[in-house]
Amino acid sequence: MHAEILVLPGDGIGPEVTAAAVQVLRAVAQRYGHTFAFTQGLIGGAAIDATGDALPAQTLAAARGADAVLLGAVGGPKWSDPGARVRPEQGLLAIRKALGLYANLRPVRPHAAALGASPIKPHLLQGVDLMVVRELTGGIYFGEKRREADLARDVCTYSVAEVERVVRRAGALARARSGRLTSVDKANVLETSRLWREVATRVVRDEFPDVRLEHQLVDSMAMHLIARPREYDVIVTENMFGDILTDEASMLAGSLGLLPSASLGEGTVGLYEPIHGSAPDIAGRGIANPYATILSAALLLRHSLRLEDEARCVETAVSQALDAGALTADLAHDRPPLGTTAAAHAVLEQLQGDCQVAE
Ligand code: NAD
Ligand code: IPM
Ligand code: MN
Repeated sequence: MHAEILVLPGDGIGPEVTAAAVQVLRAVAQRYGHTFAFTQGLIGGAAIDATGDALPAQTLAAARGADAVLLGAVGGPKWSDPGARVRPEQGLLAIRKALGLYANLRPVRPHAAALGASPIKPHLLQGVDLMVVRELTGGIYFGEKRREADLARDVCTYSVAEVERVVRRAGALARARSGRLTSVDKANVLETSRLWREVATRVVRDEFPDVRLEHQLVDSMAMHLIARPREYDVIVTENMFGDILTDEASMLAGSLGLLPSASLGEGTVGLYEPIHGSAPDIAGRGIANPYATILSAALLLRHSLRLEDEARCVETAVSQALDAGALTADLAHDRPPLGTTAAAHAVLEQLQGDCQVAE
């Protein structure tokens, strides 16, 4: 097949990790006889520097015309002045909103070779396989924001339709997996959470009678996620809770540098990015872990291009590279770490193999 892929490297380690993922996608194209055409665009701080705008119109137009978008990360100290007129992060929020990408899938699957990097006891991690569905275009991120001399306001709003569509997406995923769905909210305090709970209950009862729905308050969820992660499967939650819980969940896998994501709407172009940020503390040193972005490229193959075999092949290659000891600095304890390029090459090497052992 032919596919047009827009690459938005962004800031910090974004260019390093997207370069690695593009190499992997090129190798997949070659192996399976596809043609992937890559174009690059500006977003975030890089776009502010070049155009004054965190999401230039040209980038958005290119995204709308692409089959899929692969993004690195945005932000960094250069653009973080609290008084700044425009911030890199606004570009990311704007592209998610403009493309209608309301469902952010964040799979969490610890890998045996990386267990040593997790601060959690290994016996708690075996068999953990989570799919967090984070609502991505609503809630406190997108409500009215106001700053006055002596107060600030961020308003959290959810409509019934916004909750319905993301719960539907999570319900379908739960049905295709174990049939268990956990909806996370703060219904003991927040009105938006009481609406969320009401709608989630109705949607699952009416449309997914085969799915077992459980509600969990977000504070205790943060605890259960660490204490008994194996007991959960699909977790659906609002925007900010999902943001925080998934950075926490990255410790189940051992590093933020391992967690990919897919941001999806209704049949529109998908956006694929690691869940981590621009990691200013390690940017430019060639040591960032590229696996989260490579695994995001696998999600791109699966969800936007419908190339399931190719997606699995990439996931398998990453597993095999980890098994073979290709660990970056965030994962390696007892051995010299590989840099970003060397880790990508370890995946490319595995891609030459049979792609049979999906983990
Ligand atoms: P971060 O995710 O950038 O980094 C947190 C820690 O994890 C750092 O110590 C970093 O070195 C490490 N880390 C992250 N990714 C890694 C990788 N691939 N390999 C190895 N180590 C990795 O979060 P932060 O420091 O809170 O934020 C930095 C900037 O990134 C901020 O401007 C923030 O707004 C932005 N950010 C952007 C995105 C995005 O573009 N999607 C996501 C999160 C944060
Ligand atoms: C993420 C990031 C973003 C978010 C920021 C940079 C806007 O933390 O993708 O998880 O909060 O959604
Ligand atoms: Mn985040």
